[in-house]
Amino acid sequence: RLADLHPVKSDSLLALIAKANADTRPEKIDVGVGVYKDSQGRTPVMRSVKAAEKRLWETQRSKSYLGGAGDARMLQLLKPILFGPHAGDERIVGLQTPGGCGALTLGFNLVAKANPKARVLVGTPTWPNHQPIIAGAGLEIVEYPYYDRQERRICFAQMVEAIGAARGGDVVLLHGCCHNPTGADLDEAQWREVVRLLVERQLLPVVDIAYQGLGKGLEEDAFGLRLVIEACDEVVVAQSCDKNFGVYRDRVGALFLKTGTANTSGNAIKHVLQIAREMWSMPPDHGGAVVRTVLDDPELAADWRAEVDEMRARILAIRERLAAAHPKLAFITEQNGMFSMLPVTPQQVDDLRERHAIYMADSGRFNILGMADDEVDRFVAAVVEVIGG
Ligand code: LMR
Repeated sequence: RLADLHPVKSDSLLALIAKANADTRPEKIDVGVGVYKDSQGRTPVMRSVKAAEKRLWETQRSKSYLGGAGDARMLQLLKPILFGPHAGDERIVGLQTPGGCGALTLGFNLVAKANPKARVLVGTPTWPNHQPIIAGAGLEIVEYPYYDRQERRICFAQMVEAIGAARGGDVVLLHGCCHNPTGADLDEAQWREVVRLLVERQLLPVVDIAYQGLGKGLEEDAFGLRLVIEACDEVVVAQSCDKNFGVYRDRVGALFLKTGTANTSGNAIKHVLQIAREMWSMPPDHGGAVVRTVLDDPELAADWRAEVDEMRARILAIRERLAAAHPKLAFITEQNGMFSMLPVTPQQVDDLRERHAIYMADSGRFNILGMADDEVDRFVAAVVEVIGG
């Protein structure tokens, strides 16, 4: 009976959002979920997105079905941003998904269809929804330590060891850029080593890229992904536009696959379409149509790129302020993207919440873009007080 279902723990980030929303203290600072806030603490609709929405409203003649693959032109326009010189590779095929989460779900369900015995190597910590998605697809998870919180560095030797010990056909989940939750990305030499191992051991990379442009730049952030695409015969890519277009609630993402030939990729995507058909049938259109409208217009596309640069500049400025505030926070400038992980215990996270009305994930992950300019000093002072001056 439904009544006999075992009790379930809420997803930690969703629970955090609810907790922060329920707090009525006016001084509240919510650096929990990964959502951009501008210098005044607002999450505005981006200029390019607003302009595209206006244009869509004026020109859209129908809301009839688009089909299971979603907006084909949007996918075509995303390809050069993701794959650069490999954009024209006919072995790379894609479909639109509800957010990066939809892409990951389809990707791992496809893997489970092709190879139910595949194990998925997951570096920890990772985004709290990765493991439920993989387990939900029925695949076994093999964890390895990715990041050492005390030393504040990537455990690269352990990562290499774990990948080196994988069985042919196993899957390796990789964060394309702006690692969530740590902000600690592989450098170029490390990417090369990982890719060498993927090829040598015949492993299947699943690259999750949800923050392109918020790390070092749109091109730079695709470095690892492009290396993987170039070297590996088979690749799964889960992409999200939610952050870099600020269309969070519209849920815009894409799944791209590469296999050995255009024919086998075409066949694999038919399987994906069937899985999607069973889940949501067809992706929601609005956000994808907006992304397509922005990228299809040189002026809007240039403005969007400028807006992504503005977001990134804000991230860098706040990273600098935090790093300058305390020697224990100096490492923050070495990381990329929206997140960083503070050297705090869960008790200190509670303390920040109870005494300072500052909301961050229990892991110490916080969203660098989660505060207004005039909140940064208070955030820094509270963190310094809690970690000990
Ligand atoms: C986050 O990690 O904060 C975002 O990806 C939002 C989410 O869905 O968890």
